[in-house]
Amino acid sequence: MQVEEYSKQTMAFLSAMFMASLSFFSVSMAFPGFNWGGGGGGGFRGGVYSGLFPEYYQYSCPQANDIVMSVLERAIKNEPRMAASLLRLHFHDCFVQGCDASILLDETSTIRSEKRSNPNRNSVRGFDVIDQIKAELEEACPQTVSCADVVALAARGSTILSGGPNWELPLGRRDSKTASLQGSNTNIPPPNSTLQNLVTFFSRQGLDEVDLVALSGSHTIGVARCVTFRQRLYNQNGDNQPDETLERSFYYELASTCPSSGGDNNISPLDFVSQTKFDNYYYQLIMEGKGLLTSDEVLLTGKSDKIMNLVKMYADDEKVFFKQFAESMVKMGNISPLTGYNGEVRKNCRQVN
Ligand code: HEM
Repeated sequence: MQVEEYSKQTMAFLSAMFMASLSFFSVSMAFPGFNWGGGGGGGFRGGVYSGLFPEYYQYSCPQANDIVMSVLERAIKNEPRMAASLLRLHFHDCFVQGCDASILLDETSTIRSEKRSNPNRNSVRGFDVIDQIKAELEEACPQTVSCADVVALAARGSTILSGGPNWELPLGRRDSKTASLQGSNTNIPPPNSTLQNLVTFFSRQGLDEVDLVALSGSHTIGVARCVTFRQRLYNQNGDNQPDETLERSFYYELASTCPSSGGDNNISPLDFVSQTKFDNYYYQLIMEGKGLLTSDEVLLTGKSDKIMNLVKMYADDEKVFFKQFAESMVKMGNISPLTGYNGEVRKNCRQVN
């Protein structure tokens, strides 16, 4: 690193630290539910400051978010589903060794790529858009904005561009030098999970039932493949019968796109009323027995009054849902980030430097 470059980065770091102390107060004022103990709000997790804060690139790359948004606008106009795919990418990144862009690493002799895992293979997408954003950021601010922050910014931007809420996004994540194929296979909840399993998967990440219900609301946009909901149509409980919580006309419609064998990759919207608009129809549909995945419908039928009441509340009041979604996205984005001297800022999101 050249001296000039070094002092630029040192200045950025010092001013960032100053802003961090300020931002702690502003974030805690902005989020009255600020949570010291459980990993909430603006950068705290388990009582330890995560080191992330919204102004991280204020001096080193002030145009970072504008660049992200302009690439997203083009990509989503070109293919509206891309917003959903990028939102999901952040989730699948954060649940495996934290929000560290491990999901973006390609297979090499030393890296076993997470792209090959059961939840990701033939399913997770958006890598080209992340590459495009990163390329433009490298032009404007070389080796400054991490791939993990690109994924987090893309998830927020995709939510906004689909009509959902905005939030102050803590930044400063660094990128991993490793990936975990096994972690990806074991930490991401499968679509036929029971409610108890969903709660367990989320609590392992420091996320509670409120986060589970609010973040599942991401399924207000995007689609799922037949192979992820077939069991519900033909053999939910090992008795060759459909899931009894499926509304009948919805069942027939799904069966016409998802045969009992073949057509694994046929797709169906997660929210068939408004599959590209971020709204609260997802919860309204669950209330009618029209949630697409088992993991969606069990939020209502899984015999937890607390969780059922949250579904009802978000179905009734989109504002309450948006506010909680924003809070839970910050919390998810704070899962075990690499900061300080840990990790690196990758030049190319697909490979370590
Ligand atoms: C609660 C546990 C969850 C389960 C079991 C689950 C499962 C799934 C499955 C099976 C799909 C379809 C994948 C395919 O067809 O290949 C999907 C799609 C999606 N998931 Fe989830 N998910 C969960 C939570 C989340 C969370 C927390 C987020 C985001 C914060 C999210 C965002 C999405 C989005 C936006 C899509 C559509 C993606 C697209 O169209 O490309 N999901 N999910």
